[in-house]
Amino acid sequence: MSAKMEKMVEDKVDKKKQPVTGYLLFCVSTAVIGSLQFGYNTGVINAPAEKLQTFFRNVSMERNGEPMEEGTVIIVWSFAVAIFSVGGMIGSLSVGVMVNKFGRRKSMFLANILALIGGALMGFSSLCWSYEMVIIGRLVIGLFCGLCTGLSPMYIGELAPTALRGAFGTLHQLGVVIGILVAQVFGLEALLGSDYLWPLLLALTALPAALQCIMLPLCPESPRHLLINLNQEEEARKALVRLRGSEDVSEDINEMKEEGRKMAMEKKVTIPELFRSPAYRQPIIIAIVLQLSQQLSGINAVFYYSTGIFKKAGVTQPIYATIGAGVVNTIFTVVSLFLVDRAGRRTLHLIGLSGMAISALFMTISLALIDEENFSFLSYLAIAAVLGFVASFEMGPGPIPWFIVAELFEQGPRPAAIAVAGCSNWTANFLVGLAFLKLEALCGPYVFIIFVIFLIFFIIFTYFKVPETKGRTFEDIARGFASAAASQPSHPQGDEVTLPVSPTREKVPMVE
Ligand code: GLC
Repeated sequence: MSAKMEKMVEDKVDKKKQPVTGYLLFCVSTAVIGSLQFGYNTGVINAPAEKLQTFFRNVSMERNGEPMEEGTVIIVWSFAVAIFSVGGMIGSLSVGVMVNKFGRRKSMFLANILALIGGALMGFSSLCWSYEMVIIGRLVIGLFCGLCTGLSPMYIGELAPTALRGAFGTLHQLGVVIGILVAQVFGLEALLGSDYLWPLLLALTALPAALQCIMLPLCPESPRHLLINLNQEEEARKALVRLRGSEDVSEDINEMKEEGRKMAMEKKVTIPELFRSPAYRQPIIIAIVLQLSQQLSGINAVFYYSTGIFKKAGVTQPIYATIGAGVVNTIFTVVSLFLVDRAGRRTLHLIGLSGMAISALFMTISLALIDEENFSFLSYLAIAAVLGFVASFEMGPGPIPWFIVAELFEQGPRPAAIAVAGCSNWTANFLVGLAFLKLEALCGPYVFIIFVIFLIFFIIFTYFKVPETKGRTFEDIARGFASAAASQPSHPQGDEVTLPVSPTREKVPMVE
């Protein structure tokens, strides 16, 4: 058979394995509402920053008869911003316990209670003359978003057909970036970012929460959870028949049973065990470093402070350049969605990190020269560099770390792994948010060089340590790590091991 014909047959077989039904899309979209919430609440606080600070001053005036001191305003404001990430760290770390107790679907349902409480606290804060309600509201919303960053990718990853797991996984990030963009647009002064409407802008998060609560009862519990954790084969089969739109779901069922058999031999995996067991140590290190590569790339330095960066670069209407960044962000996430199951996770992550490093260098050059030379093209270069930075991020480092954790682990260790990875992400996000302005004051226009150094480290790590997971079953990926761990003493660092059975026959770099 010619190579071309072989490819055609392969494609046909693949297509048969990749049924995308309307029902599957409905269920995945329901989970993506959680991703949207994370994006919205990340982006929503920037635009009304000044209005909120004025509100803090006014409350103090009303209570004490004198305005709050400027230093205190900044402290209270920073606290209100930072507490969101603290909530995120706690929320993400609770994902494992929660899904083990309530399952995937019910956990998503219950998490929405936090969105309703947080939205109400912030929405009524101005009516009640209480800035404390804004702060507690942001904490509660942070807890909620921390849960969302674990629950959505987990549910989506468990429902997706193997061959399309990358594209489905990227939908989480697409939800995030659309959420950020919606928040940026709604935050415009002419819309909800005004003196009177900012409480509504912050409370709006309750709406998608209510929508998700209506949609979730129409979705099934994850079939993997039903079969592997609860041993409800009939229920799992029913759910799969609807999701796949076919009566023949034996392949999925057999694969899950195999995973379940292995899991039955192990106890429930706790967080410390992830680090103790040689079979999990490699993937958990990879999962954590990939999360760090996402945050320490400096992406949120751009998202949190882009308006300031554009201002420095001499852009006259920086808010529109910021929205432009949000649009590019969304477009390139869609590009990645179409590429990720063809080009592979590892390749796209490497391309993305490299593009970010190059863009960050250009950003540095333009910001460093702009004061000295009065070249207007430098301002265009700065905009192009920021857009290139964001576009490269969405090619790989944006979407991949979020969904690859669900791929690197099987059903048993997955909840604990997602909790650890999510918490690492939130912690790094928090640190960048906290440190960036101080670093900028210290390094001036050269501040992005710090991120270039991190990026180079992550490129090297990804090249040598991250295996390709495209097209492989969870079980196959786990087996790869287990055999690499078993043969560790006899393999020098950087060796490659070919996995015994792999649908794509990928070579997986040996990981320590
Ligand atoms: C990722 C990051 C998030 C960032 C966003 C930007 O989802 O986790 O912190 O703000 O991408 O698109």
